[in-house]
Amino acid sequence: MPQSPLIIAHRGSSQAAPENTLAAFRAAIDAGADGIELDVQLSKDGHVVVIHDEKLDRTTNGSGFVKDHTLAELSQLDAGGKFSPHFAGEPLPTLASVFELIRERSWKGLINVELKTSRFPYPGIERAVVDLIDAYGLREQALLSSFNHNSLAEVARIAPGVKTAILFSIVLYKPWEYAKGIGCSALHPSLQPGIEELIAGARAAGLSVNVWTINSVEQAQELAKAGATGIITDVPDVLLRHFGRG
Ligand code: G3P
Ligand code: MG
Repeated sequence: MPQSPLIIAHRGSSQAAPENTLAAFRAAIDAGADGIELDVQLSKDGHVVVIHDEKLDRTTNGSGFVKDHTLAELSQLDAGGKFSPHFAGEPLPTLASVFELIRERSWKGLINVELKTSRFPYPGIERAVVDLIDAYGLREQALLSSFNHNSLAEVARIAPGVKTAILFSIVLYKPWEYAKGIGCSALHPSLQPGIEELIAGARAAGLSVNVWTINSVEQAQELAKAGATGIITDVPDVLLRHFGRG
């Protein structure tokens, strides 16, 4: 069996608990995941909150855009009841509250913060996230990713020591060369044609490759064989067991 890649819990352990909630991040830590991935947006009053969609409707009992609500309003929402009544009352977390959890647990895993800046650019979100990372002393553990690569260039400009990764889902020519030009140390591709060559090229160029979103043990096994650094998955417990670590 190939060496286990890093197992990174996508939106937390998002099959076991409501995505992007403290419950999902606790479940990932408890399962022994090597890392967590989470999505961030900005509230109306400039606070960094953890939620995948620009709108509240799918995952909470609120409605409308995140950016049109203050933190005080967002704090009243239930981000768990739609997933299951068992999780009713689970709050919509701030990024600070996730960092508090990590500090409480003395957890040393990878923290992949995805800047959701493709629909709304949220000016200032890069600075706000970097400041929180520094306030909690998490630079070593943090990895910022985004589909909006301008956000990653902004991180490189304001905090060149913070690690970044380009997210993409199309087939690109030598994306490691492009990524290096932005100052990135990792690629976050979707599973795509030619993934083995992509992994080989990037690893040879000294970049990490974390592939998303992989929930099948067969695909995880193939990616491990190809030399992927990490696997971003909704089912970290299943993959950890597969690699003999659960
Ligand atoms: O970061 C990997 C993955 O989360 C990207 O897609 O839509 O699940 O945020 P999405
Ligand atoms: Mg994401």
